[in-house]
Amino acid sequence: MKNVACIDDLRTLARSRVPRAFFDYADSGSYSEQTLRANRTDLEAITLRQRVLVDVSERSLETTVLGKKLAAPMILAPIGLLGMQHGNGEILAARAANAAGIPWTLSTMSVCSIEHVAEATHKPFWFQLYVIRDRGFSKALMDRAIAAKVDTLVLTVDLQVLGQRHRDVRNGLTVPPEFRIKNVIDIATKPAWAWSVLNAKSWSFGNISGHVPGMENVNSLAKWTQDQFDPALNWKDVEWIKDYWPGHLVIKGILDVDDARTAVKIGADAIVVSNHGGRQLDGTSSSIAMLPRVADAIGNDTEILFDGGIRTGADIVRALALGARACLIGRSYVWGLGAGGEAGVAKAIDILKKELSVTMALTGVGNIASIDGRVLEGGAVKEKAAKAAKPKAAPKAKAKA
Ligand SMILES: Cc1cc2nc3c(=O)[nH]c(=O)nc-3n(C[C@H](O)[C@H](O)[C@H](O)COP(=O)(O)O)c2cc1C
Repeated sequence: MKNVACIDDLRTLARSRVPRAFFDYADSGSYSEQTLRANRTDLEAITLRQRVLVDVSERSLETTVLGKKLAAPMILAPIGLLGMQHGNGEILAARAANAAGIPWTLSTMSVCSIEHVAEATHKPFWFQLYVIRDRGFSKALMDRAIAAKVDTLVLTVDLQVLGQRHRDVRNGLTVPPEFRIKNVIDIATKPAWAWSVLNAKSWSFGNISGHVPGMENVNSLAKWTQDQFDPALNWKDVEWIKDYWPGHLVIKGILDVDDARTAVKIGADAIVVSNHGGRQLDGTSSSIAMLPRVADAIGNDTEILFDGGIRTGADIVRALALGARACLIGRSYVWGLGAGGEAGVAKAIDILKKELSVTMALTGVGNIASIDGRVLEGGAVKEKAAKAAKPKAAPKAKAKA
């Protein structure tokens, strides 16, 4: 990965190595991709404040999230079908995150199952839950996560119905999947990808396959999965999860001040300000536009995590300055995985860490706790929100599930 200088280089490499249908699946947003674009443009519109002659020779990226020490304020986000970017993608990403000292999150819709990841990594990881119509299945998934020593549950609440990604329709990545000769030709030109996927532990939805009777093939599995998303999901379900889950509960997909307040009232240990990477409600605000408002509203009652459009270390500084405690990293590491497997994910993390460290130095801060509104131009206005959002003391780590 010698010639890779930034996350965009990883994206370019991934584009050449991953079959078009799966590259597009990760790259795209819903409908007109307005919100996908806003996530980036709104982040880039935030100007950092250059400071000079501050001694920044000693810098630390360390922080704590939910009472645990992290080597950097980063968490790898849950990504469905990660194992289609590279065979065993979930296991490789988990290993890279472990080596870097940051958490990784397994998606309900992963290719490798909870058990496969636990067996291959022997390290705790976070698990993301979609509550589906079959509540018994959701409960069984939590039990499996508890057995795998998962201590943090990320409950995603912004996907009761599915936003459409036009590129998936055009590529035949639909339910049922459509056979396209152009896809077969494309895969034939990506032998390294095909080899890694063919040799992987699983090729379909690993957490579901073998756990639901009557799912004989990819078509029936995909259909069952799609039918299981539940438009009736509501806050009562979140209360039920809160009662049942013994570890930390993180609610992901909050983009509204009132929803944030409700999540705090229910007792979430953290929330993720997120619009699902611009893949759900097209036309809604960028995540970064909502972050300071949410931070202002909930203060230090609950830890605030952030995602949507993080591609540089400067973006992480922007989000922290506006009230986030740490950022979930999505496509930036997905492209790393497609570009180079475990080494590619490690590269993505390393790029972000180095950029974060340099940005901190040039904005005159030496540690994560010192990043607040003062690192932004016009920061005096934003400082209040940023300060209010920083918990005074990190909550104690909960006993492992
Ligand atoms: C390919 C892809 C699959 C995703 N799958 C899930 C998922 O299964 N569960 C979930 O909570 N979020 C999922 N997300 C959303 C991410 O967790 C995260 O919110 C988003 O990627 C952040 O935006 P970014 O990619 O611009 O960094 C997915 C995102 C992508 C790009």
